[in-house]
Parts: sequence; C-alpha cells; structure tokens
Amino acid sequence: MNVSDSELVMKILEDNGFKIVDHIDRADVIIFNTCTVRQHAEDRALGRITNEMSRKKDNKDLKIGIIGCVAQRLGKNLLQNKGIDFIVGTDQYLNLPEIITGVIENSRSLCNTRINNNEIYAGLYPAHQGEFSAYVTIMRGCNNFCSYCIVPYTRGSERSRRAEDIFRELRRAGERGFKDITLLGQNVNSYNYKKLDFPLLLKETNKIDSINRIRFVTSHPKDLSDRLIDIMAKSEKVCEHIHLPMQSGDNEILRVMNRGYTAEHYLGLVKKLRKAMPEIAITTDIIAGFPGETEQQFLNTYKMMKEIEFDYAFTFKFSPRNGTKASEFDNQVPEILRLDRLQKLIKLQQQITHKKYQQQIGKIKEIYVEKVSKKNIHEISGKSRDFKITVFPGSEDLIGKFVRVKITDAVGWTLKGKLLDHYPG
Ligand code: 5AD
Ligand code: SF4
Repeated sequence: MNVSDSELVMKILEDNGFKIVDHIDRADVIIFNTCTVRQHAEDRALGRITNEMSRKKDNKDLKIGIIGCVAQRLGKNLLQNKGIDFIVGTDQYLNLPEIITGVIENSRSLCNTRINNNEIYAGLYPAHQGEFSAYVTIMRGCNNFCSYCIVPYTRGSERSRRAEDIFRELRRAGERGFKDITLLGQNVNSYNYKKLDFPLLLKETNKIDSINRIRFVTSHPKDLSDRLIDIMAKSEKVCEHIHLPMQSGDNEILRVMNRGYTAEHYLGLVKKLRKAMPEIAITTDIIAGFPGETEQQFLNTYKMMKEIEFDYAFTFKFSPRNGTKASEFDNQVPEILRLDRLQKLIKLQQQITHKKYQQQIGKIKEIYVEKVSKKNIHEISGKSRDFKITVFPGSEDLIGKFVRVKITDAVGWTLKGKLLDHYPG
C-alpha cells in the first residue's frame, strides 16, 4: 500500500512542477512515506529519518517531510523532532505541493493530518515504479477494527475508487507494459462501487486485453465468498495466488481479535480454494503472543499452520499500538514468550516452505521474465503465476516475455528450471 501511495504522491508532485530525482543526494526535499502497523516498522522509519537529518548540516535549504501512517498517528508530535519541515497524513496528499511550497517560501514547519473519508484520489494515474508489474489501488481505508490494528485509525473508513477510473488505469498500465497487475486495498473483498462488487470487478478486469496476470491483496477470510472463488477459478488471468491472513488458529483468540471467523471457517476456505485451483499458492499473516494467548491457544495456531502448509507465512509478534483495544488488554503476553513463539512459527514455516518448493520440481510453469539473474549473466529470472521467483538459462531478449519453464531444482526460496518455449508476442 505504501509503495502504491508513494507512486501516487510522485504523480501529484510531478503534475505540480516538482521533479523526482534518482538519488537522495540530489534532493532539495526528502519525503519519507512511513508505516506504523507495528512498533518495529515505526522505529525503523524514525531511525532512518533521524539518520538523514544530518544532511541538513551540509545543506541548510534541505526540507524534510514525513507522510504515511506514522505521520498520521503522531502528527504534530513529530514536529518536536527538530528539523522536520512538514507532516502530511494519508488523506492530504493533494495538498502536498502547496505545503512544500509554503515550507520553502516561509521557512516554517507545517502539519496537516486531517482524515477525509471521501478522499479516493480520483482521476490520478500513479507513476508506477516497477518495470513489469504495477499496483492499482481499488479501495482505501478499513472498517473492520481488528482489535490489534491501527490501520482504521490511520487510514480512515473504507471507500472504493470509481470503477471507471480503475479500468482506465488498468488498461493504461497494460499498454505501458505492466502485464502483471496487483489490485490493492486493505480488504479488497469489500470493494463496492455502484453495485459492482469485487467478484464482478475481477471478472471485468479479466477482459482487459492489455494485461496478462491479475493478483489482489489483501483478502479478508470473513468476506471471501464462494462466488469469488468461482470467478477466480474461471478467470484465466487471475493468478493461482492468494494472500489470506489467518492471524491465529484459535477460535477464542480470533474472537477477541474481532476477526469475524473461526478456525474451521478458515480451513474450509483453504479447502475450497485448493479444490477450485489445485495449484494455488496460499500465503498468510500470523500474530504470535496476542494478549491472553495461552500455550494451548498458541499450539492451535501452530497445528493449523502445520495442517494447512502455507506457501509462505509472514509472522509477527504482537505489537501493542496505542489507541487500539488490544493494547489496553490487561493480559499482555511477556515479550520473551512472544519472541519464543514467533521463533517457533518461523522455524515451522521454513520447513514447510522448503517442502513446498521441493514439490515444484518436475512441474512446468509459466514465467514472466523480468531481468538477467544477478548471480549469473547467462541466466534470466522472473515470477511464476503462483509468485515464485524462477531462474533459468536464457537470453536477455526474453525479458518482458512469458515463457514456459520446466522446474529442475529448488534452492532456498528460488526455483531453478529449463526453458521450454515462449509464447508469441
Ligand atoms: N501486532 C502485530 N502484528 C500486527 N499486524 C497488524 N497489527 C499488528 C500488531 N498490532 C499484522 C497482521 C496484519 C499485518 C499487515 O500486520 O498480521 O495482517
Ligand atoms: Fe487491520 Fe483488520 Fe483492517 Fe486488516 S482488516 S487493515 S488487520 S483492521
């Protein structure tokens, strides 16, 4: 989401006469787009900002600003960090040009973190930074209020972008060579614009000639319908790949998390997805050490992960976020236990991911070639439909093309293969 928002901000600035430079050393204005979903993300952002502040010693005119969720969460408090010139929240990016100009002209700091639950940044075509794949934001904000999560506070209520804008952006992205598209939103399954819901949006996106692959993040298990699974399976451009955050495998923890589904429901979804799309890669997010999590409840999560065998799992230790309900629960799990549980989940998932990658050997996969391999100039690399990096001997002129590759080996999180043929065009 932040990558996509940065692309949007670049577009807003470029449209207003600013120039994006290719190296921080050449910038007159530095903008940090920040994430606060966990304390660790926020600390890293603030650490990096503090480091870069030293640039002001050599360049008195340099302006430094913070945007994104840390800006939204801390607002004016960040200005106490001497030297920050502007703080702009997630719904105020259209005002950035004016704010930056104001800061430059008047040499005083500015802060605007007003939430505007109607802001959808309509009609803007973001400056996509990738070469072959692009993110297209379809909705912003979230109404779910999972008890641990800061997002509904920093990004405001859920709002869907206009379908016409989305389709225009998708066609343009495809025409410009971005053949692999990811539809983005905090909860894409809730997309709704004038009776066009997410399954219909996918169906229509599938008809766009200029794009070849469609992905989407993030899906919420409580809103993933049978109809959506059916449309995913029937739409040939929709990739066999879904990110479906489970968060916990224990029903009581899921309840206090306010997730709106049970472990059984989640398991049912996994079965339906795999039945409809046998090659589907399922990835997830898991939180270890949510307040009140007992050893047995943790084991329920562990067992679920073992049973489901995710292709990959992003695992996090619970991080209390000020203002969320869970941060106020009086049964916080000690840090040391959170870490210990996290490590157990990481270890388990490493074994599973290894096994999953080994299972790919012998399969024939469609690869979208992106670049020459960093390790060997005679090899090229790209991604499969199920989002696995695949490296194989081949020439540079295949970059940007779709090829078929037979998988011969799996090394770490990379598949190795042999080129079979490439598709015309
Ligand atoms: N603590 C730990 N992990 C969190 N996430 C969101 N909020 C928290 C928190 N307070 C994780 C969830 C979510 C992912 C983006 O970040 O797993 O799906
Ligand atoms: Fe946060 Fe839950 Fe919304 Fe995801 S669905 S952004 S975890 S509140």
